[in-house]
Amino acid sequence: LRTQVGIIGAGPAGLVLANVLGRAGIDCQVVERHPRARVESRARAGLLEERTVAYLRAHGLADRLLAEGTRHGWCEFLCQGQRLRMDYAALTGGARHWVYPQQWLVRDLIAALETDGRLPWFATPARAVEELRRIRCDRLQIDCDYVIGCDGGHGVSRHALHPVLRREVTQRYPYDWLAVLAEVDAPAPGVLYALHERGFAGMMPRTSAISRFYLQCAAGDTPADWPDHRVREELRLRLEGGPALGGLYERRTLRMHSRVTRPLQHGPLFLAGDAAHLLTPSGAKGMNLAIDDAADLAHALLHGGLAGYGQRRLAALRRAQDFSERLMRLLHRPPGDALEELRRLTRPGPEAAAFAREFVGHVNCKEW
Ligand code: APR
Repeated sequence: LRTQVGIIGAGPAGLVLANVLGRAGIDCQVVERHPRARVESRARAGLLEERTVAYLRAHGLADRLLAEGTRHGWCEFLCQGQRLRMDYAALTGGARHWVYPQQWLVRDLIAALETDGRLPWFATPARAVEELRRIRCDRLQIDCDYVIGCDGGHGVSRHALHPVLRREVTQRYPYDWLAVLAEVDAPAPGVLYALHERGFAGMMPRTSAISRFYLQCAAGDTPADWPDHRVREELRLRLEGGPALGGLYERRTLRMHSRVTRPLQHGPLFLAGDAAHLLTPSGAKGMNLAIDDAADLAHALLHGGLAGYGQRRLAALRRAQDFSERLMRLLHRPPGDALEELRRLTRPGPEAAAFAREFVGHVNCKEW
């Protein structure tokens, strides 16, 4: 098979890129390791920044998101019995997050490709990228003008960079997070970060009936270390009561690490999304950065500027990474030490406004 742009991975990055390029008349082929049903049901992130949504909308990819997503303009920190609210909408002149589960967006993006008759090749893992422009799968080989690696944190594309060239900077934190989805009787009104002597706990809105919960756990813990009763008890203690919980689902332990691979481009091969950079979920930046990468690449492929892709994305990445790290450090501090900083960040003023802008992604606002 021959194509102009070969895309590995049908996550948010790969699917946005395929949609935008396809509609602009560029021939694309997407290969995806997993079957469609699996990709469409995988619960991951859920917070989208306004500029991300504006981009999707401008490309006709946000109809359902705009109809079914909800908007959130504040988050709360719970610390030593005090609830401190950061009203980031007020602090930024109205910028808010959209809450829409990643798997719903993925489903919408696949449906849009299907309508255009350009479904990805599902259940077709790429085994290697050869000579930077050939995607080799078991029963398929695609020769491409460009190969875009959107294959997430465990893909093959970054391994196609020559080892002499490839630089990876990783950071491992001394703890991990347990992530679960839980049935709730009322939707989470906003993101809640709880700092507690027993460790951090978080609650993130997802749908009207389900919320995402995180619990700091020991580095290397597995879901087997966290049976139902332990999850419920720790959430109750760290969230100082917390909501009434129904069934628990999708228990996973997330390794708290970050990784940036460089270069992001080499000849006709480009990396985008988690394949290029893994961030911790603390700042909810992963999905937004992935779509941003796709937007930049789509623009550059259509209008020029490919040579500057890596540099542009690294600048945006540095910013997201600085924010995620700052929040990560803050959330894991002993509550007594963190209280003063939390007060500063939630009290209207320049420091709170700057933090709020980074949080809601009201920076680097670029019209694509
Ligand atoms: N061949 C084909 N597909 C692959 C391969 C491979 N060898 N390896 C991985 N994939 C697929 C995965 O199955 C997945 O569907 O690539 C896709 C990568 O998607 P994501 O991991 O969602 O990555 P990305 O599109 O960059 O989006 C980043 O995802 O990890 C979350 O929270 C993170 O929101 C962020 C977002």
